[in-house]
Amino acid sequence: MNRIPVFQPLIEQEEIVASTKALELGWLGMGSYVGEFEDALKKFLNISDRYVAAVSTGHAALHLGLMVAGIGVGDEVITPSFNNIADFQAILATGAEPVFCDIDDRTLCIDLDKAEQLITSKTKAIIVMDYDCVLCDHSRVAELAHKYNLRVIHDAAHSFGSKYKGQMVGSFSDICMFSFDPVKTMTCIDGGAIIVRTEDELRAIHEMRLIGMGQPSSVMYQNQRAWTYDVKRLGFRYHMANLHAAVGLAQIAKMSRISDNRAAYGTFYNKALSQIPQVIVPKTDFSNITPFLYYIRVPEEDRDALRSYLSDRGVDTGIHWQPGHLFTLFKDFRQGDLSTTEKVAKEIFSLPLHSDMSTETLKQITDSIASYFLEKSQ
Ligand SMILES: Cc1ncc(COP(=O)(O)O)c(C=O)c1O
Repeated sequence: MNRIPVFQPLIEQEEIVASTKALELGWLGMGSYVGEFEDALKKFLNISDRYVAAVSTGHAALHLGLMVAGIGVGDEVITPSFNNIADFQAILATGAEPVFCDIDDRTLCIDLDKAEQLITSKTKAIIVMDYDCVLCDHSRVAELAHKYNLRVIHDAAHSFGSKYKGQMVGSFSDICMFSFDPVKTMTCIDGGAIIVRTEDELRAIHEMRLIGMGQPSSVMYQNQRAWTYDVKRLGFRYHMANLHAAVGLAQIAKMSRISDNRAAYGTFYNKALSQIPQVIVPKTDFSNITPFLYYIRVPEEDRDALRSYLSDRGVDTGIHWQPGHLFTLFKDFRQGDLSTTEKVAKEIFSLPLHSDMSTETLKQITDSIASYFLEKSQ
């Protein structure tokens, strides 16, 4: 039996040709493809008043975002506990402390009322992440940030290609980041991007992503390097490699097909699964949404039984996520009421969502979910 995986990157002839060309060029580190990829991202995101830097991973983008926002020892950063470990680790890497906030039951994004209650004089930034099919209330995020003088790190790892009030995600936040890891909506094999508002922030990121070297990116984008430079700040090996950028360029050229397909599959899932009374589907009609994950919620007592029922029928499923505040490393950090996070974490699981799926595959999945509940009721 061919299993249906949760994730399946869309790797076709274009990515293979692009990789071969990048390898044949022989300039494997940061080079011309990285510059081209940043330009393509700017164009895709319709950005004219912001700066884009490609980096090695989404985690690197988060770490650099927090660094450039001036976050460090003694500071607190509010994050939804229902988030990726990369966000919590990036906060720790700056020397600051995460503060775990609950999510909204409808959107599964950060609960902004509860976030406001967690703000103290130590709070310097808030991480808001779009949980896939439904985006955060970014207008309110901006108001809150303004009221309390907070930096905002918008984790858009799951919302690349989506639009918020007509604007591309990535084009309006204080600091925004994407991940292009192997399973994301669009992949660079591994990669990330960070979008900032000022040239100074971009310059700092350029230095930090190259272990602090004041090596001009414009020189590297010509597949050359400056042999003399100064080092003025802490840095990391966080740059994007040419090979990865070449794959990213092949992928971004397909984003319109990827967005259309993923939104259509989300719509198919929502239509079929909303007929089942025990299933809660994402509250969206997928207009302007490019989902990375498709998730459902079911009664807690059914979640694991249904996952193994699906597994027996060749359908793999995933869990996004285990709440951050329950991990050993993070359990002692400050937290608010996390009752929604803890409830949702026991009900939720992710179904397969790829950029190219057949209706038969989708039907096999939705029929299997329907038959689980039918058999249970008999
Ligand atoms: C919401 C979110 N943020 C950040 C990351 C980290 O990205 P990367 O895997 O590229 O380091 C991920 C990765 O899965 C993620 O899901």
